[in-house]
Amino acid sequence: MTPAATGVVRRARFLQALGIGPVWVPRQSVVSDEVPLPATVAIAVPAVPPVAAPVVSKQDKAASAWDDAPAVRAPAAAAPVLASPVDEGAAAIARMSWQELELAVASCTRCALCKNRKQAVLGAGDQKPGWLFVGEGPGHVEDQQGEPFVGPAGKLLDNMLLALDLPRGENNYLANAVKCRPVGADGKDRPPSADESAACRPYLERQIALLQPAVIVALGKVAALSLLGGDPKIAVAALREHTHRYGSIPVVVTYHPAYLLRKPLDKAKSWRDLCLAAQAYASDGTLAV
Ligand code: URA
Repeated sequence: MTPAATGVVRRARFLQALGIGPVWVPRQSVVSDEVPLPATVAIAVPAVPPVAAPVVSKQDKAASAWDDAPAVRAPAAAAPVLASPVDEGAAAIARMSWQELELAVASCTRCALCKNRKQAVLGAGDQKPGWLFVGEGPGHVEDQQGEPFVGPAGKLLDNMLLALDLPRGENNYLANAVKCRPVGADGKDRPPSADESAACRPYLERQIALLQPAVIVALGKVAALSLLGGDPKIAVAALREHTHRYGSIPVVVTYHPAYLLRKPLDKAKSWRDLCLAAQAYASDGTLAV
């Protein structure tokens, strides 16, 4: 089998694992004898708007409830501006090298999340990635292991990546809006508050500046708000299907994998979002998936 055909087959397997199909198959692709693919060209990938869609303004966003986590207050500044002009820590972070960033995050006390962490989780992956995926924050497993997305949601994210032919860490980097695990009074994982996100935002900004990804995928509302600002009452559903911008970098918003574990029927929508992100990635002049 040619490498291209192997890629098609592999993607089909992971899409099947995600419960998504039928799969779009290029007319010239080789039909595998291992995984049955549709005989005709079946389009699961919807027509998507042009990648150069404008930044979605607050006014464009419907005022409905978030659908994947409780509301949080958005940071005041829009990307990619520093959190506050008087935040000297943020100004210093904006000049850091990777090594300095790693050390600063490991010993950070910019918010109270530092009190309960076992360790901060900066992120992981290719430091020259085409793709950056941003989640909300480490959970219990991530806090223990020091790696992002290694719990149940991470397993689903791995399948989403593989459906894009992106093995974890290859041409992709995984980060979070906050680097320390937010713990509720009940001892369980919880979403970070707006203040926690804002305190950690300079680190995310510096990561993006160092990584220079071709496209960013915001996984859920916490990531979307951290990257784009905006009205915290808006639903992720209203942010999907647009290509937003972080500076000049296209940003596509989709559901958080933890939400998809609870609402598997929305996986198909998430796959459409990833296809939109793939378009943005391809039109950046780098390789298409
Ligand atoms: N959820 C996230 O948003 N990030 C992680 O790293 C793990 C779970």
